[in-house]
Order: sequence, then structure tokens, then C-alpha cells
Amino acid sequence: MTSLSAPEKEFAHPRQTMRAVVKARPERGAEFVDSYAERQLAAGEVRIQIAAASVCGTDRELYEYSPMAQAFNLNIPVVLGHECAGTVIEVGPGVDSLAIGDRVALESHVACWDCYPCDTGNAHNCLNMQLLGLHLDGGFAERLAIPATACFKLHPDFPLEQGALLEPAGVAMHAIQRSKIDLAGADVVISGGGPVGLFIAAISRAMGAGNVVVIEPNAYRRGLIEELGATSLTPGDDVIGTCRRLSGAKFGFDVAFEASGVPAALPPLLEALRKEATVVAVGIPGRPLELDVAAYLIKKGLTFTGSFGRALWGTWENIADLVASGKLDLSKFITHRLPLSALDEAIELLSQESCKVLLIPGLPDGSETISKGDA
Ligand SMILES: NC(=O)c1ccc[n+]([C@@H]2O[C@H](COP(=O)([O-])OP(=O)(O)OC[C@H]3O[C@@H](n4cnc5c(N)ncnc54)[C@H](O)[C@@H]3O)[C@@H](O)[C@H]2O)c1
Ligand SMILES: [Zn+2]
Ligand SMILES: [Zn+2]
Repeated sequence: MTSLSAPEKEFAHPRQTMRAVVKARPERGAEFVDSYAERQLAAGEVRIQIAAASVCGTDRELYEYSPMAQAFNLNIPVVLGHECAGTVIEVGPGVDSLAIGDRVALESHVACWDCYPCDTGNAHNCLNMQLLGLHLDGGFAERLAIPATACFKLHPDFPLEQGALLEPAGVAMHAIQRSKIDLAGADVVISGGGPVGLFIAAISRAMGAGNVVVIEPNAYRRGLIEELGATSLTPGDDVIGTCRRLSGAKFGFDVAFEASGVPAALPPLLEALRKEATVVAVGIPGRPLELDVAAYLIKKGLTFTGSFGRALWGTWENIADLVASGKLDLSKFITHRLPLSALDEAIELLSQESCKVLLIPGLPDGSETISKGDA
């Protein structure tokens, strides 16, 4: 355990120090420090006591400092973590939307609320967007200072661990919204059974979809898919034949979600859809992909769209309502809870038998709970 002074982030009167996981250098790894200097709140900001933060594939990229991570132009040193929830403990000047004691989940795409996309209902595509845990100090810490405009206020009873999962579940909800398909009775095919694909499958089930098929090579994740009441296939299975058979006269599914980011996953989806169906790209491929426009967009009549982040705040309202109503239980996706000091282990777990791995600032160092469902 070391302490870290962050010269670029020094403020006149640092409030106090805290435990945090910091990307301190432009190289592989991240540092757990016990004395990260907290800054004073600026106008419009609040300070959050973090209850839980979830680790995701992007954090693994940042940890590895992969080319994808480098392309983000991190503001190093930066506290990692962008999927988190907690309680407001301090309110800065000019904030009247939140009060001490409010429970909030955080939008990781911090918008300026003052550019053309922000002014026209597309703040998820803000021209001046800053990302939590990449450009702004994030949630793998005891506390965090953030603009109040990036907080989604939760009901006082909303479980904060599930609050931390609203950001990635919102990615799934937004993809469904972008499809513009009413999922009640619709046949849904998803490639990728990582958290995003699993959340799309779970929301589809909660919304009364007909057949839900998820393509996923990892056997442990296929087990999670089956637990959701969806059908799991491997990429080597007859995906196209299965979808055509299950959909009868439609001769293909109504909507597809590409949630793996793997280039090879897209072509079978396009074939597994019926004519005039919709495909939504959510997974981020590492390179440009080819698309047969004549065959799929013109002759087959597919609508091809993509989805980025979460619509502010329509996605958040819909996903939080699904959880609050009991129709969607995000706690069953939590497989591990670790203290802040265990990020290395959490990153390792992402490639093993896990789904959502939480870092809990309140857990003592050295503790680990491997569990499913509510703590
Ligand atoms: N659009 C957005 O706003 C947004 C937000 C968050 C994440 N993402 C992207 O969404 C994707 C999924 O995120 P995640 O957190 O679930 O990641 P993940 O890496 O945990 O999940 C991807 C899954 O795809 C599976 N896979 C590998 N090859 C496959 C194939 N040929 N066919 C089908 N599945 C295959 C993997 O086994 C894995 O389970 C990633 O590309 C991520 O970058 C996009
Ligand atoms: Zn994430
Ligand atoms: Zn903006």
C-alpha cells in the first residue's frame, strides 16, 4: 500500500484523503492507495459515499492499458471505476436537485448540458463528454466528487448494489429502446452473453419477449443464460437454422443485438433475422466491419442501428422502474464482492467463472464473498 500525491489534481484545500484505486501511470496495472487527496467541491457538484462499484470489461482494458484504453486519452492519475452508486454526503454551491442522504446511481458519461446534442435530447452524445473513471476521478474509492447533473436519484429503498449495476444494465435498456421494437411477443437473438448481452436477455424476458436466443462460447455464461429462461447456443451451433425453425412462418427473428464486439458474430445474426427486422450494434468491434448493403439493407430491408451509453434520463427511468417493480432482479448477476484493495483479483475474475464483480469500499481488506443474489 502506498500513498500517492497527485500534483495535477492538487487543490488549495484538499478536504481529506481516502482509499482509492488509481491508474497512476501510462502502463499496465493500477495502484491501491490509502491516501488519495480529495478535492473541494466545485459549484454544481456533490460528494458521494460509494456503497458499491462494479468492475467491467472497460476496466480490464484500462488495467491492461490496451490500445483501446490508450485511445481514450486518460487524465492520469485518475481513480478508476464508472459503474457505481452511493449516498450524497456533501452538497456544493448551487445544487438544489440533491440533498444530503439522497441515494444516487452515477451516469458515467458526464455531459456538459450546454452543446447541440445536449440541448436536443441527445446528451449521451455530448460534444464535450467526459467519462467517469477515465477523465474524471471514478468510483473505485471511498468517496467521489461529481456534478449533480450526472447523478440519477434513486428511491430511498433502492438497493445500492443494484444501483451500481444500473449503468451497465442501462446500456442494455438503451439498445432495446434504440431498436424501437415492442419486445412483447418478439423473437430476440443476442450475440454475446457477457453482462451486456445477459442484461438484454433478462430485460427482454421481463418485457414478455417470445423466443430469446443468446449465442455465447463460454459454458459458464451459457449456464447463466439458461437460468434466465433463454436458449443458449455456441457460435458453432446452427444459429441460423434454429432461429428460422423457432420463428415458423416469419422465417427469422424480429430483432438482433450484437453484444460481443467480435466481428465474426455479426454475419450469422443478419441471416437469423426475418425480412424487415432490426439489428442493433452494442458491442464495440476493434476494427471497421464490412456490411453487404445490397443484400441486407436494400433487399432484406433490415434496419441497422447502434446504441451508445444511456439516454438521459429516459433509459435510467425505465431501467430503474423495472428493478423497483421487481420485474428485473439485478442482484442475481452479482457473483463476487471484494474490497477496494483487491482490484487485481477482480480483473482476473472477469475472465473466469463470474458475471458482475463488485468492489465494496466498506469491506475490510483481505475479505471476499463469492455469492449470488442480495448480500
Ligand atoms: N455501446 C455501448 O455504449 C457499450 C457500453 C458498454 C459496453 N459495450 C461493449 O459491449 C460489449 C459487451 O460488453 P460486456 O461487458 O458484456 O463484455 P464481455 O467481454 O464480458 O462480453 C462479451 C461476450 O461475448 C462472448 N463472445 C466471444 N466471441 C463470441 C462470438 N463469436 N459470438 C458470440 N459471443 C461471443 C464472450 O465470451 C463474452 O462472454 C463489449 O464490446 C463492450 O465494449 C458497449
Ligand atoms: Zn462499464
Ligand atoms: Zn454537451
